[in-house]
Amino acid sequence: MRTTRASFSFTHTTVQILMIDIGKLRRETPGVAHRVHLNNAGAALMPTPVLDAVKTHLDREAMIGGYEAAEETRDQHTAVYDSVARLIGASRDEIALAENATIAWQMAFYAQPFAAGDRILTARAEYAANYVAFLHVARQTGAVIDIIPDDENGVLDPAALEEMIDERVRLIAITWVPTNGGLINPAAEVGRIARKYGIPYLLDACQAVGQMAVNVEDLGCDMLSATGRKFLRAPRGTGFLYVRRKILGKLHPPLIDHFGAPWVALDRYDLRPDARRFETWENNYAAHYGLGAAVDYALNVGIDGIEQRCRMLGSQLRADLSEIPGVDVYDLGPDPAAIVTFSVAGREADDVKAHMAGLGINVSRSNPSSTLLDATARNLPTLVRASPHYYNTEEELQKLVEACRSLVAA
Ligand SMILES: Cc1ncc(COP(=O)(O)O)c(C=O)c1O
Repeated sequence: MRTTRASFSFTHTTVQILMIDIGKLRRETPGVAHRVHLNNAGAALMPTPVLDAVKTHLDREAMIGGYEAAEETRDQHTAVYDSVARLIGASRDEIALAENATIAWQMAFYAQPFAAGDRILTARAEYAANYVAFLHVARQTGAVIDIIPDDENGVLDPAALEEMIDERVRLIAITWVPTNGGLINPAAEVGRIARKYGIPYLLDACQAVGQMAVNVEDLGCDMLSATGRKFLRAPRGTGFLYVRRKILGKLHPPLIDHFGAPWVALDRYDLRPDARRFETWENNYAAHYGLGAAVDYALNVGIDGIEQRCRMLGSQLRADLSEIPGVDVYDLGPDPAAIVTFSVAGREADDVKAHMAGLGINVSRSNPSSTLLDATARNLPTLVRASPHYYNTEEELQKLVEACRSLVAA
């Protein structure tokens, strides 16, 4: 592996390089033998323990029956909640599993009571799925959406947020790391303001979980949503919602069934006391076990080491790409995460993606419509998105860099 040329800045005062055994982790990642996978912000490659957890349970379902397999693995299922809780510094009863981050987020968002004139404060980098839900609620209730201004680096400005607070602010809902670049919004500073003024705070941590340390106490969020398949390396179709115990009892899920709300009398249901009130009865148990295994895997690798290496690889790739004449890099903020978005002069993002696929390199594209506020404000084209993970090597990054260099020269 060649040494990194990119500057590696970290917000902590002392930078201790945490060792990760990349060789071992790659041996446990079958996909790396086939592709240079730089689409971890889309869906990361699952490691062997995750695959084994999913396959073992599916096999068991096939052998003894789905309900019976769930019954005999009841403790393993509970342990998934414990693992997710450990990952984010929460308790088991504050976690609901979901089929993706969007459902998790919607459960929390649509549980908020809005009335005409209520304000929803959000960030410029907000994800499309969340923003259309704001628009929907605004249309239905007369609530209004206000965008928190950015600072000169394009990062959400906490001071500007604080100035916006008044008695009509009903919810602060922001994305921590967006889908369209390495920007890291100051989620914990937003949390401090939300707490100071007693405003519910919903954090979209979809792109953060699995590549960064996440602690709901430090973040001060009341609700947090995340997906399994991205940096967490879990199977597709998994996600989770965290809801702070203090507000759980006040939130009625927007949709219920007899699992989240047992039918206790002919004319009555009781909501479950824990966050599983946001779940329904039927589940993909195999996928849940995959999620649990992915969380345990990340915890075993060590979140701080993961964060450090992701940040280092992201910043190296960004620096190398930005040295190529004709390549423009679009990531915002002083110390971006491992999502690198760029364009290649004279080439559509789709062409670049297809060209890279032909070379065995997986990258993806980011459409303006997935972050329309930001794309409009910055006049963004469709971007190529490369998102390394800790199991990627510097040689793999160089393959992408060289491929971009030849594309520009062609
Ligand atoms: C920032 C962000 N939030 C939410 C989502 C939605 O996640 P999911 O597809 O798991 O619902 C994504 C997906 O790309 C995302 O990037």
